[in-house]
Amino acid sequence: MNMLRKAVGHALLAGSILAMAASGQAGYARSAKSSTPPGGAPGDTDVTNRAKTLLAKMTPEEKAGQLSQYFYFGQAPATMTDPIDAAIAKGQAGALLFITDPAQTNKLQKIAVEQTRMKIPLLFGFDVIHGLRTIFPAPIGMAASWDPAMVEQAQGIAAAESRAVGLHWTFAPMVDIARDARWGRIFEGAGEDPYLGSAMAAAQVRGFQGRHIGEPGHIIAGPKHFAGYGAAMGGRDYDEVDLSDNLLWNVYLPPFKAAVDAGAGNIMSAYMALNGEPATANHWLLTKVLRDTWGFKGFVVSDADAVNSLTTHGLTRDGPDAALRAVKAGLNMEMIPPTMPGHMGSIATAVAEGRLTTAELDKAVQPILEMKIRMGLFENPYVDASKAEAVLNDPAHRTAALHAAERSAVLLRNENALLPLDRTGIKSIAVIGPLADSAREVLGSWVFPMNKAVGVGILAGITDKVGKTVRVDYSAGVNMPKRTYPSPFVMMETMMGTPAVKRPPIDDTAEIARAVGLAKNADVSVLVLGESQEMSGEMASRASFDLPGRQQELLDAVVATGKPVVVLLMSARPLNLKNSKAGAILDLWYPGSEGGHAAANLLFGDAVPGGKLPISWIPSAAQAPTTYSYLISHDQANAMHRYWDGSNEPTYAFGHGLSYTSFTYSNLHVQQPSYHVGEPVKVSVDLTNSGKRTGDEVAQLYIHQRSGTSSRPIRELKGFQRVTLKPGETRTLQFTLTPSDLRYWSAVTRDWVQDESAFDIWAGGSSNAALAGSFEISGR
Ligand code: NOJ
Repeated sequence: MNMLRKAVGHALLAGSILAMAASGQAGYARSAKSSTPPGGAPGDTDVTNRAKTLLAKMTPEEKAGQLSQYFYFGQAPATMTDPIDAAIAKGQAGALLFITDPAQTNKLQKIAVEQTRMKIPLLFGFDVIHGLRTIFPAPIGMAASWDPAMVEQAQGIAAAESRAVGLHWTFAPMVDIARDARWGRIFEGAGEDPYLGSAMAAAQVRGFQGRHIGEPGHIIAGPKHFAGYGAAMGGRDYDEVDLSDNLLWNVYLPPFKAAVDAGAGNIMSAYMALNGEPATANHWLLTKVLRDTWGFKGFVVSDADAVNSLTTHGLTRDGPDAALRAVKAGLNMEMIPPTMPGHMGSIATAVAEGRLTTAELDKAVQPILEMKIRMGLFENPYVDASKAEAVLNDPAHRTAALHAAERSAVLLRNENALLPLDRTGIKSIAVIGPLADSAREVLGSWVFPMNKAVGVGILAGITDKVGKTVRVDYSAGVNMPKRTYPSPFVMMETMMGTPAVKRPPIDDTAEIARAVGLAKNADVSVLVLGESQEMSGEMASRASFDLPGRQQELLDAVVATGKPVVVLLMSARPLNLKNSKAGAILDLWYPGSEGGHAAANLLFGDAVPGGKLPISWIPSAAQAPTTYSYLISHDQANAMHRYWDGSNEPTYAFGHGLSYTSFTYSNLHVQQPSYHVGEPVKVSVDLTNSGKRTGDEVAQLYIHQRSGTSSRPIRELKGFQRVTLKPGETRTLQFTLTPSDLRYWSAVTRDWVQDESAFDIWAGGSSNAALAGSFEISGR
């Protein structure tokens, strides 16, 4: 019943968000907070006391069981399932992951609540990264919408679908900042900027969790990977990280802080070491920062196998030593892959031998029990399996996915207003490219066979829209090369007995010739190019930003026909199109279940692109890592020419994105020339739609502090608003820079400071914004 009410609620929410967007109110207010407080919620004492009462009755072995989370594949070979069933019955499991079948969930839950002495229910978690059945755009794409309200709504729907199948918890959002696009997990985050990243982190936590932990139709959010994982050396996934305190506090930690402030109930520890101390046994991170400084009240889970790998790191002697050190550091739960040993069982022995006190063990278990109490699992451990499909197939969810895909698209280039295509003038389209005719590719990474998600491919979307009136020809053009080493996804799919669909190979040379023939005979060609979905995500770094396979050759050959060419890109990282003369480039990221329909709407102007890049679009992996927000160093005049054999300027700047209309900025006005430390700074700017169509613009505000305790970046994003304006309409946008926007962590004082200083300020449509102003901050 709750589920159905929730689904209706989402339909209503979808309507109100659309209305908000239409009225141009989808902005981001820094003060927007969840009503889920990080601590001190009403009823907290009851929850704490209930957990304490349980703890008082539990044996050390039962407590240790709560600290273990096992992978469990619903469709796994029987040999894998029996030992886990038995482990649940013995009270050795506190949580499971990777089950999305409600009947299966109920079966396993029944073992926990009926066969164990303490009858403590299990928590069920899963990687619900950008949707369960209804797939929303890749998180990097959703960040490109610069629309936290839309992102909150999307993850709210993902939560409703998850709860409907019996899940309680997602390992998301990934809030790792990524400034090196070689790193495949750039797919899962919000890009390079801590301000945008914090807005997206908080929005996703609110979406997943609702107003409070345990709200019907919602699940626990687990921001990850705490912390610094996105700075993997060389962009190589799982590689080591060497991060200064300056970057850690000012860039990498803020999205985690925002997620904790929004009330996140869980955090996942990272694989790598920070300052030589593996994150999963890092007392400073897990206790000093997370709990003592930020007041986090939830539980911390390790990344899969990360406790075991403390020994691989060369930190601990063996598994029991690893479990002990992780728990002492502040870890609550170990995530255990199907083929690996779990080590939390040894914690009971550590207590018996006096290496861990009962108080220390209780401290680890308490937040897990509290979360189960908050989720209402003692009262309602089961899910109503008969209601699941109705929630999963709610048409309002598909409408929201379409809306999200349209809002996530970024128009990188549009020469001579090639887009939108003129529906009346076009009689034939050639749809070309290895990603064009695939219902799977639009979904992107982190979608498993058990999601049973269905996507609309680009060719299908275009045909659905114009197939009756326009001739649509298709050629794959070239093969998409396969990854040469297995990804964890392929391994899991193989274990589940549902290997990825294999495309039959084609003869590239012959197919390019055929594609050119189609292009010559069409009014316009739409090339769907990029990376296949398995080329980003976990364990999917790339050392090149060139189009994989012979796609560049295909693109050049089609452009050489002289006919109009639109490129639709699908990737999670910048791609180098080698100065191609394609008339228009529209980045769809991986647009999700409704990708094909969204693409068709955008091509024909039924939707107007308004997204902006959440990453700097550099032309080559040789320029990675990079950021628009760099520290000014020696010889600033030549800052963009640090290579003698090329510029280090991006092809498209952070924040860039065009529209089918145009916008102008004027009257940047700081309310007062000077403010005191601690006072809010009020800024306004006029934004005018100077074109001929209604469209969206993401107005961005950047600052630069001229002098102070430490050097500050050349520009820092400190405000944004996505607004919809009619042709000729002007709106005065108000921004407030709060004291926390103006402060930063300084390695000089090893604390947060707000300096007295002069500041530059810019407002505009990208990080290259030219309209400038200034203000002063002085002492009291
Ligand atoms: C490893 C990944 O790093 C993490 O993000 C994910 O949640 C777990 N595997 C579980 O799939």
